[in-house]
Amino acid sequence: MTTNLAERQAVIDGCLAMNRLGVNQGMSGNLSHRIEGGFLVTPTSMAYDAMEPDDIVEIGFDGTYLGTRRPSSEWRIHRDILRARPDVSVVLHAHPIFATALAVHGRGIPAFHYMVALAGGDSIRCAPYATFGTQALSDHALVALEGRLACLLGNHGMIVLGNGVAAALALAVEVETLARQYLHAQQFGEPAILPPDEIARVAEKMRRMKYGRPVDDGDAPEDTARPRG
Ligand code: 13P
Repeated sequence: MTTNLAERQAVIDGCLAMNRLGVNQGMSGNLSHRIEGGFLVTPTSMAYDAMEPDDIVEIGFDGTYLGTRRPSSEWRIHRDILRARPDVSVVLHAHPIFATALAVHGRGIPAFHYMVALAGGDSIRCAPYATFGTQALSDHALVALEGRLACLLGNHGMIVLGNGVAAALALAVEVETLARQYLHAQQFGEPAILPPDEIARVAEKMRRMKYGRPVDDGDAPEDTARPRG
């Protein structure tokens, strides 16, 4: 019997969506979802549109796996992040065009736009390059992700964290959009960078407004229109 069927399907759907949304292409990238005692991760080198729930690999935090497919070459990144970050359940790694264009120059994304705050700080850092699939790459990624939900990987791509696949995908689209806007803005020189206290104000406003959560859960946020009645 296949365990964690819903999470396995969510991993596959998330991968198909990241290619459809233009934040990844082909067999690049990988995606994981936390489960009891470990996580599920995409198999290495397999086309997303050919994946069935049984192809998704189950791995424990001890690095042992269950399944017929071999796990993603980046399983260490997924293990180390999910172990270190109890605040997230999903790790998405992709090679988006614009974010990677910055990352090949070792450039992160500064606070040229207030939406940078969505990733948890006043910049989106770029981790130094290390060979794909190595512990060194995972170590660099963990440092770049300190206090953040996203980072770029030098000469490689992007990592985004989320609570659930939908949140990770939404943030991946935002980060790729920011990278695209930043690269376009640079046609006129380096854009103005918002100071840390403004990004802190934006982050606090997003928190108070429950920005990104469209459903009224009855706990009316401050600083918005009020529901009638
Ligand atoms: P896998 O197919 O092994 O997941 O590798 C893809 C990738 O993007 C490596 O960084």
